[in-house]
Formats: sequence, C-alpha cells, structure tokens
Amino acid sequence: MNSNGLAINNHVIPLNMTVINRTAYDEVDYPSYVYPQTHPDRLATIATLLGMNPAPVEACRVLEMGCGAGGNLIPMAFDLSESSFVGVDLAGSAIAQGWELIAALGLKNISLQQLDVMAFPCELGQFDYIIAHGLFSWVPEVVRDRILAICRAHLAAQGVAYISYNAYPGCRLREIARDIMRFHSKDKHQAAEKVGQSRAVIKWIAEAQVQTNSYANFLTEMNNRLMKRDEGSIYHDELADVNVPLYFHEFAAQAHKHGLQFLSEADYFERSADSSFTVEAARQLDQIGEEDTLAESNIWIS
Ligand SMILES: C[S@@+](CC[C@H](N)C(=O)[O-])C[C@H]1O[C@@H](n2cnc3c(N)ncnc32)[C@H](O)[C@@H]1O
Repeated sequence: MNSNGLAINNHVIPLNMTVINRTAYDEVDYPSYVYPQTHPDRLATIATLLGMNPAPVEACRVLEMGCGAGGNLIPMAFDLSESSFVGVDLAGSAIAQGWELIAALGLKNISLQQLDVMAFPCELGQFDYIIAHGLFSWVPEVVRDRILAICRAHLAAQGVAYISYNAYPGCRLREIARDIMRFHSKDKHQAAEKVGQSRAVIKWIAEAQVQTNSYANFLTEMNNRLMKRDEGSIYHDELADVNVPLYFHEFAAQAHKHGLQFLSEADYFERSADSSFTVEAARQLDQIGEEDTLAESNIWIS
C-alpha cells in the first residue's frame, strides 16, 4: 500500500476518505456466493458469439459494485492471476471479511474497498468487465442512475457490463409474500425476530389453506423456500425497505439513456425461448424480437 492508495498490478487505487456509517449489511451479513453468470469468461464468450472483440479474460480488469464479502470476485481473482479485480461495497464489515480471505489466499491481484458508489472516484479508470449482481433493485433511484453512469464512464472499449435486477411481472408473486411478511414483522426490531415472524406467518397461511389453487400452491412453495433460505438473505431481500423490481422495458430505457446498449441475457440459452417454452411459443417469441422478451439478468455494452 502507498500513501495514496492500494496498488494492484501497478494500478494505484485511491482510498476512499469519506466516512461511511454502519449499514444494515454491517448488522446482518448477506451470504456471499459465487454467481457463474457474472464470470468474465461467460461475458466474454457471449460477447464474442455476438460479434464483439472483448478483452481476454486471462488479462483483463474487472470491477464489481456491491461486491459484499467478495464471495463472487475472490474466486475469479484466484483463478485469473494475470487479471486484476476491484470490488466496492458500502458495508465495511463485508469488505473486512473479504480482505481476510484475500490475505489467507495471498492474492495480489484484487482490492476490495468500502465505498459508496455515489462517491465512485474517476481515478479507478477503465474496466473490461463490470459486474453489479443483486445491487440495482436494492438501491434508491439516484443510486441506480449512478450505477448506469459508472458503467458508461468506466467501461473500456469493447467492455461488457453485467447487471441483474428483480424483474416484473414475475416479481408480482414474490411481492405477495413480501407484503405479508413485512406487515406481520413490522413491530419487531431485531433481524432474527423479523425473519422468525416472517417465516412463521407464511407457514401458518400456507398450512391454513383448504383449497388447492394457485394461491395455495404459491404459499406452499414460498414456505418451503423460506425454510431453506439463509436468514440474512430473507432479511435483506424479502424484508428490505428498498426492493424495486422493474420491467425489462423500464430497465432498458434507463440504460439507453446512459448510452448503454443491450447485448444479451447472461444465460445465453435464454436468448432463445426454446429452453423454457413450447416449440410454438418459442417460435412466436423469436418473431417478437429479443428486446421485447422478459429478462432479469442482462449484459450491456457502452
Ligand atoms: C443484496 S446485497 C448483494 C450482495 C452481492 N452482490 C450478491 O449478489 O450476493 C447488496 C449489496 O450492495 C451493497 N450496497 C448497497 N448500496 C450500496 C452503495 N450505495 N454503494 C456500494 N454498495 C452498496 C450492500 O452493502 C450489499 O453488500
């Protein structure tokens, strides 16, 4: 480390001097998993198939916004030793956990910084791949706008950004459960109590149904899922104050406003409807065109 910042592969990254208050993610950890659909190899492969000439994954720069404890980014850095990785997140505790793992692995090609994306420094430079998984729908509008602006300003030529968000209309179903859980747990203050009450109320309503219909089926499925889910993810996903799903057309309009161009779904086979629909429905969807179909995990280029 030098006096101005952290050096990775000779690229100096300024340390953020802004004081950041503790966040809900410092109080309750969010599970930090690997998301294969965000890996530069996946992004580069899809970009190449669609006619781009993206940076080789063996020698690229990757940024992840809202990286949490680095569960997604650190394995990439471990695997791609000649590439460099920068992760930023508002939660200091998650960043500290990430650094512990980085130190234990002895990695020199990754830096995690506690940083509000609203204060993203332009000195961080250009990136070949930018990842924002599980961030866009979890932040207010002004931050969503900033995330897109960062993608536009910091994507290198032939750069690729991966942005996921919660998508309508599918999320309408999840919102039924979210509304029930938030209402039922609103007077509880501890995270564990809130999650406990939320699980309990869905279980009770699911088991109270006497009719077999789509509502009862949904509640049973939700109950089963909640029993298996991590407490932190229920707290930060279902019970979060900000959890904003968007229609693809809304997301696309915002991204276009920032000069970003839609490339593909991150699951390449979702580009073709064949895998999820009947042959006839897939044929009809193909005729409608890509930009009008449903999408929740997209790749964008500047
Ligand atoms: C729902 S969690 C997702 C974490 C991880 N990306 C994942 O998908 O598992 C949202 C993350 O975004 C971070 N975050 C929220 N607002 C942020 C901001 N303004 N700047 C940077 N990170 C932010 C939170 O601290 C949290 O770690």
